[in-house]
Amino acid sequence: MSSLFDSFTLKGVTLRNRIAASPMCQYMAEDGLPTDWHLPHYAGLARGGAGLVVVEASAVSPEGRITPADLGMWSDAHEEALRPIVAAIEDAGAVPGIQIAHAGRKASANRPWEGDDHIPEGDPRGWTPIAPSPVAFGGGLSRAPEEMSLDDIERVKADFVAGAVRARDAGFRWLVLHFAHGYLGQSFFSAHSNQRTDAYGGGAENRARFLLETLEAVRGVWPDDRPLTARFGVIEFDGRDEETLSEAIGLSHRFREAGLDFLDVSIGFSTPEANIPWGPHFMVPTAARVREETGLPVSTSWYISDAEAADASVAKGELDLVMLGRPLLANPRWPYAAAKTLSVEKPAWATLPAPYAHWLSSYRTE
Ligand SMILES: Cc1cc2nc3c(=O)[nH]c(=O)nc-3n(C[C@H](O)[C@H](O)[C@H](O)COP(=O)(O)O)c2cc1C
Repeated sequence: MSSLFDSFTLKGVTLRNRIAASPMCQYMAEDGLPTDWHLPHYAGLARGGAGLVVVEASAVSPEGRITPADLGMWSDAHEEALRPIVAAIEDAGAVPGIQIAHAGRKASANRPWEGDDHIPEGDPRGWTPIAPSPVAFGGGLSRAPEEMSLDDIERVKADFVAGAVRARDAGFRWLVLHFAHGYLGQSFFSAHSNQRTDAYGGGAENRARFLLETLEAVRGVWPDDRPLTARFGVIEFDGRDEETLSEAIGLSHRFREAGLDFLDVSIGFSTPEANIPWGPHFMVPTAARVREETGLPVSTSWYISDAEAADASVAKGELDLVMLGRPLLANPRWPYAAAKTLSVEKPAWATLPAPYAHWLSSYRTE
Protein backbone atom coordinates (compact mmCIF):
# COMPACT_ATOMS: atom_id res chain seq x y z
CA MET A 1 0.00 0.00 0.00
CA SER A 2 1.35 3.43 -0.91
CA SER A 3 1.39 6.08 1.77
CA LEU A 4 1.73 8.95 -0.70
CA PHE A 5 -1.70 8.03 -2.03
CA ASP A 6 -3.36 7.75 1.37
CA SER A 7 -5.95 10.45 1.92
CA PHE A 8 -5.28 13.11 4.55
CA THR A 9 -7.94 14.70 6.71
CA LEU A 10 -7.36 17.88 8.68
CA LYS A 11 -10.30 19.65 10.30
CA GLY A 12 -13.19 19.41 7.84
CA VAL A 13 -10.96 18.99 4.78
CA THR A 14 -9.87 15.72 3.17
CA LEU A 15 -7.13 15.61 0.51
CA ARG A 16 -7.22 12.66 -1.90
CA ASN A 17 -3.49 12.06 -1.45
CA ARG A 18 -0.37 13.52 0.22
CA ILE A 19 0.87 15.38 -2.85
CA ALA A 20 0.52 19.17 -2.71
CA ALA A 21 1.34 21.81 -5.27
CA SER A 22 3.59 24.24 -3.42
CA PRO A 23 2.73 27.94 -3.84
CA MET A 24 4.61 29.37 -6.82
CA CYS A 25 4.39 32.99 -7.91
CA GLN A 26 3.74 33.18 -11.62
CA TYR A 27 4.53 36.90 -11.89
CA MET A 28 1.81 37.18 -14.52
CA ALA A 29 -0.85 39.24 -12.70
CA GLU A 30 -2.00 42.76 -13.57
CA ASP A 31 -2.88 45.05 -10.65
CA GLY A 32 -2.88 41.91 -8.51
CA LEU A 33 -5.57 40.32 -10.67
CA PRO A 34 -5.18 36.96 -12.39
CA THR A 35 -4.75 37.00 -16.19
CA ASP A 36 -5.37 34.35 -18.84
CA TRP A 37 -2.23 32.61 -17.58
CA HIS A 38 -3.58 31.62 -14.19
CA LEU A 39 -6.69 29.53 -14.66
CA PRO A 40 -5.17 26.93 -17.01
CA HIS A 41 -2.08 26.82 -14.81
CA TYR A 42 -4.03 26.00 -11.63
CA ALA A 43 -6.55 23.76 -13.39
CA GLY A 44 -3.58 21.87 -14.85
CA LEU A 45 -2.06 21.31 -11.42
CA ALA A 46 -5.39 20.04 -10.04
CA ARG A 47 -6.09 17.84 -13.07
CA GLY A 48 -2.56 16.56 -12.68
CA GLY A 49 -3.68 14.78 -9.54
CA ALA A 50 -2.28 16.72 -6.57
CA GLY A 51 -4.51 16.52 -3.50
CA LEU A 52 -3.92 20.15 -2.56
CA VAL A 53 -3.18 23.06 -4.88
CA VAL A 54 -1.92 26.16 -3.10
CA VAL A 55 -2.32 29.34 -5.13
CA GLU A 56 0.81 31.47 -5.17
CA ALA A 57 1.73 34.17 -2.63
CA SER A 58 -1.05 36.72 -2.94
CA ALA A 59 -0.26 40.11 -1.50
CA VAL A 60 -2.53 41.52 1.21
CA SER A 61 -1.82 45.06 -0.05
CA PRO A 62 -0.26 46.55 -3.18
CA GLU A 63 2.91 47.45 -1.26
CA GLY A 64 3.17 43.79 -0.12
CA ARG A 65 3.82 42.47 -3.62
CA ILE A 66 7.28 41.18 -4.48
CA THR A 67 6.93 42.50 -8.03
CA PRO A 68 4.28 44.57 -9.84
CA ALA A 69 3.13 41.29 -11.46
CA ASP A 70 2.25 39.45 -8.23
CA LEU A 71 -1.24 38.24 -7.49
CA GLY A 72 -3.12 40.20 -4.83
CA MET A 73 -5.96 39.74 -2.36
CA TRP A 74 -6.65 43.31 -1.31
CA SER A 75 -10.03 44.12 -2.87
CA ASP A 76 -13.40 42.61 -3.68
CA ALA A 77 -12.31 42.49 -7.34
CA HIS A 78 -9.46 40.14 -6.39
CA GLU A 79 -11.83 37.89 -4.46
CA GLU A 80 -14.21 37.75 -7.44
CA ALA A 81 -11.44 37.10 -9.95
CA LEU A 82 -10.11 34.15 -7.93
CA ARG A 83 -13.48 32.34 -7.73
CA PRO A 84 -13.16 30.63 -11.15
CA ILE A 85 -9.71 29.38 -10.12
CA VAL A 86 -11.16 27.95 -6.90
CA ALA A 87 -13.90 26.24 -8.94
CA ALA A 88 -11.43 24.82 -11.48
CA ILE A 89 -9.30 23.30 -8.70
CA GLU A 90 -12.36 21.84 -6.93
CA ASP A 91 -13.79 20.48 -10.20
CA ALA A 92 -10.64 18.44 -10.69
CA GLY A 93 -10.96 16.93 -7.21
CA ALA A 94 -8.20 18.89 -5.45
CA VAL A 95 -8.59 21.16 -2.45
CA PRO A 96 -7.99 24.85 -3.26
CA GLY A 97 -5.55 26.62 -0.96
CA ILE A 98 -3.99 30.06 -1.09
CA GLN A 99 -0.98 31.72 0.49
CA ILE A 100 -1.45 35.29 1.70
CA ALA A 101 1.66 37.35 1.95
CA HIS A 102 3.49 40.62 2.43
CA ALA A 103 6.96 40.86 0.90
CA GLY A 104 8.39 43.39 3.41
CA ARG A 105 11.89 44.55 2.46
CA LYS A 106 11.98 42.25 -0.58
CA ALA A 107 9.06 44.14 -2.18
CA SER A 108 9.25 46.35 -5.26
CA ALA A 109 11.48 44.05 -7.29
CA ASN A 110 11.74 43.13 -10.94
CA ARG A 111 10.43 39.76 -12.04
CA PRO A 112 12.97 36.93 -11.62
CA TRP A 113 13.57 36.72 -15.35
CA GLU A 114 13.93 40.51 -15.60
CA GLY A 115 16.66 40.90 -13.01
CA ASP A 116 15.21 39.71 -9.67
CA ASP A 117 16.58 42.94 -8.19
CA HIS A 118 14.98 46.01 -6.67
CA ILE A 119 13.28 48.39 -9.09
CA PRO A 120 15.45 51.55 -8.92
CA GLU A 121 14.22 54.35 -6.65
CA GLY A 122 12.30 56.93 -8.68
CA ASP A 123 11.11 54.40 -11.27
CA PRO A 124 7.31 54.77 -11.34
CA ARG A 125 6.85 50.98 -11.46
CA GLY A 126 8.24 50.69 -7.92
CA TRP A 127 7.34 51.79 -4.40
CA THR A 128 8.99 52.14 -1.00
CA PRO A 129 9.22 48.79 0.79
CA ILE A 130 8.40 48.66 4.50
CA ALA A 131 9.94 46.34 7.07
CA PRO A 132 10.62 46.03 10.82
CA SER A 133 13.91 47.93 10.47
CA PRO A 134 15.54 50.08 7.77
CA VAL A 135 18.04 47.37 6.84
CA ALA A 136 18.37 46.22 3.22
CA PHE A 137 18.55 42.49 2.43
CA GLY A 138 21.66 42.97 0.29
CA GLY A 139 22.86 41.77 -3.08
CA GLY A 140 20.42 42.82 -5.80
CA LEU A 141 17.84 43.68 -3.14
CA SER A 142 19.85 46.61 -1.87
CA ARG A 143 17.10 49.17 -1.28
CA ALA A 144 16.72 50.03 2.42
CA PRO A 145 13.09 49.75 3.50
CA GLU A 146 11.26 52.25 5.64
CA GLU A 147 10.91 51.22 9.28
CA MET A 148 7.31 50.34 10.13
CA SER A 149 5.57 52.45 12.73
CA LEU A 150 3.22 50.83 15.25
CA ASP A 151 0.35 52.11 13.08
CA ASP A 152 1.88 50.37 10.06
CA ILE A 153 2.06 47.13 12.06
CA GLU A 154 -1.63 47.39 13.00
CA ARG A 155 -2.55 48.18 9.40
CA VAL A 156 -0.67 45.20 7.96
CA LYS A 157 -2.18 42.84 10.54
CA ALA A 158 -5.60 44.15 9.51
CA ASP A 159 -4.65 43.61 5.84
CA PHE A 160 -3.86 39.96 6.61
CA VAL A 161 -7.25 39.61 8.30
CA ALA A 162 -9.03 41.22 5.34
CA GLY A 163 -7.08 38.96 2.95
CA ALA A 164 -8.12 35.89 4.97
CA VAL A 165 -11.77 36.97 4.89
CA ARG A 166 -11.58 37.36 1.10
CA ALA A 167 -9.85 33.99 0.73
CA ARG A 168 -12.57 32.43 2.90
CA ASP A 169 -15.36 34.06 0.90
CA ALA A 170 -13.78 33.15 -2.44
CA GLY A 171 -14.05 29.50 -1.34
CA PHE A 172 -10.46 28.61 -0.51
CA ARG A 173 -10.40 25.78 2.01
CA TRP A 174 -6.73 25.83 3.07
CA LEU A 175 -4.98 29.05 4.09
CA VAL A 176 -1.22 29.53 4.26
CA LEU A 177 0.25 32.54 6.07
CA HIS A 178 3.58 33.40 4.48
CA PHE A 179 6.00 33.57 7.39
CA ALA A 180 9.00 32.37 5.38
CA HIS A 181 11.66 33.28 2.85
CA GLY A 182 12.71 36.65 4.27
CA TYR A 183 9.37 38.31 3.55
CA LEU A 184 7.62 40.44 6.15
CA GLY A 185 6.62 37.80 8.74
CA GLN A 186 10.01 36.09 8.59
CA SER A 187 11.79 39.44 8.72
CA PHE A 188 10.15 40.26 12.05
CA PHE A 189 11.31 36.92 13.44
CA SER A 190 14.88 37.07 12.14
CA ALA A 191 17.53 39.06 13.99
CA HIS A 192 19.17 39.59 10.55
CA SER A 193 16.36 41.97 9.63
CA ASN A 194 14.74 42.99 12.90
CA GLN A 195 16.72 45.50 14.91
CA ARG A 196 13.77 47.17 16.64
CA THR A 197 14.01 48.20 20.24
CA ASP A 198 10.25 48.30 20.94
CA ALA A 199 7.84 45.45 21.75
CA TYR A 200 8.31 43.99 18.23
CA GLY A 201 12.09 43.58 18.36
CA GLY A 202 14.93 42.36 20.58
CA GLY A 203 14.53 38.93 22.22
CA ALA A 204 12.78 35.97 20.60
CA GLU A 205 9.56 36.78 22.48
CA ASN A 206 9.37 40.25 20.93
CA ARG A 207 10.50 39.14 17.46
CA ALA A 208 7.67 36.57 17.52
CA ARG A 209 4.99 39.12 18.39
CA PHE A 210 4.02 40.25 14.87
CA LEU A 211 3.67 36.66 13.65
CA LEU A 212 1.64 35.52 16.64
CA GLU A 213 -0.64 38.53 16.63
CA THR A 214 -1.24 38.13 12.90
CA LEU A 215 -2.02 34.43 13.35
CA GLU A 216 -4.38 35.10 16.27
CA ALA A 217 -6.21 37.82 14.36
CA VAL A 218 -6.59 35.62 11.28
CA ARG A 219 -7.76 32.69 13.42
CA GLY A 220 -10.64 34.94 14.52
CA VAL A 221 -12.02 35.12 10.96
CA TRP A 222 -10.89 31.85 9.38
CA PRO A 223 -13.51 29.08 9.78
CA ASP A 224 -12.73 26.42 12.37
CA ASP A 225 -13.40 23.58 9.95
CA ARG A 226 -10.80 24.77 7.40
CA PRO A 227 -7.06 24.32 8.05
CA LEU A 228 -5.17 27.44 9.04
CA THR A 229 -1.53 26.83 8.18
CA ALA A 230 1.71 28.75 7.87
CA ARG A 231 4.88 28.48 5.87
CA PHE A 232 7.74 29.26 8.23
CA GLY A 233 11.49 29.42 7.65
CA VAL A 234 12.78 27.55 10.69
CA ILE A 235 16.44 27.51 9.69
CA GLU A 236 18.73 30.03 8.00
CA PHE A 237 21.88 27.97 7.34
CA ASP A 238 23.79 30.99 8.63
CA GLY A 239 26.05 29.22 11.10
CA ARG A 240 23.67 29.71 14.05
CA ASP A 241 21.38 26.92 13.00
CA GLU A 242 20.74 25.16 16.31
CA GLU A 243 19.87 28.49 17.96
CA THR A 244 17.53 29.60 15.14
CA LEU A 245 15.90 26.21 14.92
CA SER A 246 15.25 25.97 18.67
CA GLU A 247 13.76 29.48 18.65
CA ALA A 248 11.63 28.59 15.63
CA ILE A 249 10.43 25.35 17.20
CA GLY A 250 9.57 27.29 20.38
CA LEU A 251 7.51 29.71 18.28
CA SER A 252 5.88 26.83 16.38
CA HIS A 253 4.62 25.47 19.72
CA ARG A 254 3.04 28.85 20.34
CA PHE A 255 1.57 28.90 16.81
CA ARG A 256 -0.09 25.61 17.67
CA GLU A 257 -1.50 26.99 20.94
CA ALA A 258 -2.79 30.01 18.99
CA GLY A 259 -4.75 27.76 16.63
CA LEU A 260 -2.36 26.84 13.82
CA ASP A 261 -3.31 23.48 12.31
CA PHE A 262 -0.34 22.66 10.09
CA LEU A 263 3.19 23.92 9.35
CA ASP A 264 4.99 23.94 6.00
CA VAL A 265 8.61 23.84 7.12
CA SER A 266 10.94 25.96 5.03
CA ILE A 267 14.08 28.10 4.98
CA GLY A 268 14.50 31.63 6.36
CA PHE A 269 16.29 33.30 3.43
CA SER A 270 16.90 36.29 5.71
CA THR A 271 20.50 36.79 4.64
CA PRO A 272 22.34 36.45 1.33
CA GLU A 273 25.27 35.00 3.32
CA ALA A 274 23.54 31.67 3.98
CA ASN A 275 25.29 28.45 3.08
CA ILE A 276 22.43 26.16 2.12
CA PRO A 277 23.21 22.43 1.70
CA TRP A 278 21.04 21.98 -1.43
CA GLY A 279 20.36 18.37 -2.29
CA PRO A 280 17.57 15.86 -2.80
CA HIS A 281 15.11 15.90 0.11
CA PHE A 282 17.55 17.87 2.31
CA MET A 283 14.86 19.62 4.36
CA VAL A 284 13.05 16.40 5.33
CA PRO A 285 15.00 15.71 8.57
CA THR A 286 14.37 19.29 9.76
CA ALA A 287 10.67 19.02 9.00
CA ALA A 288 10.53 15.65 10.79
CA ARG A 289 12.15 17.22 13.83
CA VAL A 290 9.62 20.06 13.89
CA ARG A 291 6.83 17.48 13.59
CA GLU A 292 8.27 15.38 16.41
CA GLU A 293 8.89 18.30 18.78
CA THR A 294 5.72 20.30 18.18
CA GLY A 295 3.15 17.60 17.39
CA LEU A 296 2.03 19.69 14.40
CA PRO A 297 1.44 17.93 11.09
CA VAL A 298 4.05 19.17 8.60
CA SER A 299 5.14 19.31 5.00
CA THR A 300 8.26 20.48 3.30
CA SER A 301 9.53 20.89 -0.24
CA TRP A 302 12.94 21.52 -1.85
CA TYR A 303 14.24 18.96 -4.30
CA ILE A 304 11.65 16.30 -3.57
CA SER A 305 10.97 14.55 -6.85
CA ASP A 306 11.60 10.87 -6.21
CA ALA A 307 8.25 9.16 -5.68
CA GLU A 308 9.66 6.25 -3.66
CA ALA A 309 11.56 8.51 -1.28
CA ALA A 310 8.53 10.80 -0.91
CA ASP A 311 6.36 7.78 -0.20
CA ALA A 312 8.86 6.54 2.41
CA SER A 313 8.88 9.96 4.15
CA VAL A 314 5.13 9.79 4.58
CA ALA A 315 5.22 6.11 5.60
CA LYS A 316 7.89 6.79 8.24
CA GLY A 317 5.91 9.67 9.68
CA GLU A 318 8.51 12.30 8.72
CA LEU A 319 6.05 14.28 6.61
CA ASP A 320 2.27 14.44 6.42
CA LEU A 321 2.29 16.09 2.99
CA VAL A 322 4.92 16.45 0.31
CA MET A 323 5.00 19.90 -1.30
CA LEU A 324 6.22 19.90 -4.88
CA GLY A 325 7.24 23.02 -6.77
CA ARG A 326 9.40 22.73 -9.87
CA PRO A 327 8.66 19.02 -10.41
CA LEU A 328 5.05 20.06 -11.04
CA LEU A 329 6.11 22.92 -13.34
CA ALA A 330 8.07 20.33 -15.31
CA ASN A 331 5.24 17.82 -15.24
CA PRO A 332 1.90 18.74 -13.63
CA ARG A 333 0.93 15.08 -14.07
CA TRP A 334 3.77 13.89 -11.84
CA PRO A 335 1.18 12.25 -9.53
CA TYR A 336 0.13 9.81 -12.31
CA ALA A 337 3.75 8.86 -12.89
CA ALA A 338 4.18 8.42 -9.12
CA ALA A 339 1.08 6.22 -8.97
CA LYS A 340 2.65 3.99 -11.63
CA THR A 341 6.03 3.88 -9.91
CA LEU A 342 4.38 2.97 -6.61
CA SER A 343 1.98 0.48 -8.24
CA VAL A 344 -0.98 1.96 -6.44
CA GLU A 345 -4.22 0.02 -6.44
CA LYS A 346 -7.55 0.80 -8.02
CA PRO A 347 -9.08 2.83 -5.17
CA ALA A 348 -6.19 5.33 -5.34
CA TRP A 349 -6.43 5.58 -9.15
CA ALA A 350 -10.14 6.23 -8.75
CA THR A 351 -9.40 9.43 -6.79
CA LEU A 352 -7.51 10.91 -9.78
CA PRO A 353 -9.41 12.60 -12.62
CA ALA A 354 -10.89 9.81 -14.76
CA PRO A 355 -10.20 11.35 -18.19
CA TYR A 356 -6.51 10.76 -17.54
CA ALA A 357 -6.53 8.09 -14.83
CA HIS A 358 -8.74 5.66 -16.72
CA TRP A 359 -6.14 5.36 -19.46
CA LEU A 360 -2.95 5.82 -17.55
CA SER A 361 -3.67 3.20 -14.88
CA SER A 362 -3.23 0.41 -17.45
CA TYR A 363 -0.87 2.08 -19.94
CA ARG A 364 2.62 0.59 -20.15
CA THR A 365 5.41 2.37 -21.95
CA GLU A 366 8.04 -0.32 -21.43
C1 LIG B 1 8.52 29.92 -9.83
C2 LIG B 1 8.53 29.78 -8.35
C3 LIG B 1 7.72 30.60 -7.58
C4 LIG B 1 7.68 30.43 -6.19
N1 LIG B 1 6.80 31.19 -5.45
C5 LIG B 1 6.61 30.90 -4.15
C6 LIG B 1 5.52 31.48 -3.44
O1 LIG B 1 4.67 32.18 -4.00
N2 LIG B 1 5.42 31.19 -2.12
C7 LIG B 1 6.28 30.34 -1.49
O2 LIG B 1 6.14 30.11 -0.28
N3 LIG B 1 7.29 29.73 -2.16
C8 LIG B 1 7.44 29.97 -3.47
N4 LIG B 1 8.38 29.28 -4.18
C9 LIG B 1 9.09 28.16 -3.54
C10 LIG B 1 8.32 26.85 -3.87
O3 LIG B 1 7.06 26.83 -3.23
C11 LIG B 1 9.10 25.61 -3.41
O4 LIG B 1 9.24 25.61 -2.01
C12 LIG B 1 10.50 25.57 -4.03
O5 LIG B 1 10.43 25.70 -5.42
C13 LIG B 1 11.22 24.28 -3.63
O6 LIG B 1 10.51 23.16 -4.04
P1 LIG B 1 10.94 22.36 -5.39
O7 LIG B 1 12.37 21.92 -5.20
O8 LIG B 1 9.95 21.22 -5.42
O9 LIG B 1 10.78 23.31 -6.52
C14 LIG B 1 8.48 29.46 -5.56
C15 LIG B 1 9.32 28.66 -6.35
C16 LIG B 1 9.33 28.80 -7.73
C17 LIG B 1 10.19 27.88 -8.55
